Amino acid sequence: MKKKLVSLLTVSAMTMSMLVGCGQGAAETATTEVAETATEVAETATQAAETATEAAETAGSADLADKKVGVCIYQFADNFMTLFRTELENYLISQGFSKDNITIVDGANDQATQTNQIQNFITQGVDVLIINPVNSSSAATITDLVVGADIPLVYINREPDADEEARWQSNSWNVTYVGCDARQSGTMQGEIIVDLGQDKVDLNGDGKIQYIMIEGDPENVDAQYRTEFSVKALEDAGWTVDCLDDQVGNWDQATAQQLVANSLSAHPETEVVFCNNDAMALGALQSIEAAGRKVGEDIYLVGVDALTEALEDVLAGTMTGTVFNDHIAQSHGAADAAINYITGAGNEYYIGCDYVKVTTENAQSVLDSLK
Ligand code: GAL
Ligand code: CA
Repeated sequence: MKKKLVSLLTVSAMTMSMLVGCGQGAAETATTEVAETATEVAETATQAAETATEAAETAGSADLADKKVGVCIYQFADNFMTLFRTELENYLISQGFSKDNITIVDGANDQATQTNQIQNFITQGVDVLIINPVNSSSAATITDLVVGADIPLVYINREPDADEEARWQSNSWNVTYVGCDARQSGTMQGEIIVDLGQDKVDLNGDGKIQYIMIEGDPENVDAQYRTEFSVKALEDAGWTVDCLDDQVGNWDQATAQQLVANSLSAHPETEVVFCNNDAMALGALQSIEAAGRKVGEDIYLVGVDALTEALEDVLAGTMTGTVFNDHIAQSHGAADAAINYITGAGNEYYIGCDYVKVTTENAQSVLDSLK
């Protein structure tokens, strides 16, 4: 099992506006302000993180055996979050928590259900909460509930907005976010395409890259940034892009399969299919094959997550590439942050990690590292 320390801390301070649907000019209307100070903050914060990790290590596991952890997952029926929660539970146990004291609940993609679950955890008096919100926009309400009950809170996977994160810091609340910067994953998807060379990707030779975009839940910053930054990487390389279709597949394989089937029949000139995650890329692949197309020959396909099946497709050449969404670093980082609150060591307000670009060259080693 690969053990990677979450050591990179960044701040997320950006504003963005975006419309879904390339017919309405999604990419063109997106505006982003990126905080240039992020790297500096990351450097100074790394030291603090190291100190916190040492404190956690010296705390000893005996103290954790009777601590209660509540974990809220937005939806169990999500491939990536299933990998995440399985690893989270195993790692919490390896750090000294008792399995009986770890409760993981399914929000069933419904914020009202999840808010109830949070209230129940508060009534039970858990020592720490790890929350993957159904709606990131509900974060302020969730934070108020949890902080009001004096329970430390670790957000995962769905990042609350910059205003919400700023509130934790200005109030010195025991609240943090552990996750990766979705802009990086989008950029890497685009770079995988750019690295192939324009001559290869521009199959009809019209000087433009015809693409379709299949988005995750549009309320989720991961979907927004991957959509924006994948295409931006092509434009930054000086390529001209032509968005043929932009649809919401809600991270779901079957939904994406249907959407891509429709898109390909309406737009056979499609050269690249961008999917915000691998589950949707697997659905896209089913439709690409059903349409008699061949990835790497007459179409290109990229996803994000590095699910085992997607890695096998990358190795077989049936997916152009993916981006490893490091559920191991993120789940360990979230558990470590929870421990740091319990031991009193505390945490920074943002705990980041890096994505990894995956192509045929390294797909086998990523696959091996996950076994
Ligand atoms: C993303 C991941 C998706 C989906 C989503 C849920 O980071 O790439 O597959 O799990 O999180 O919020
Ligand atoms: Ca073209």
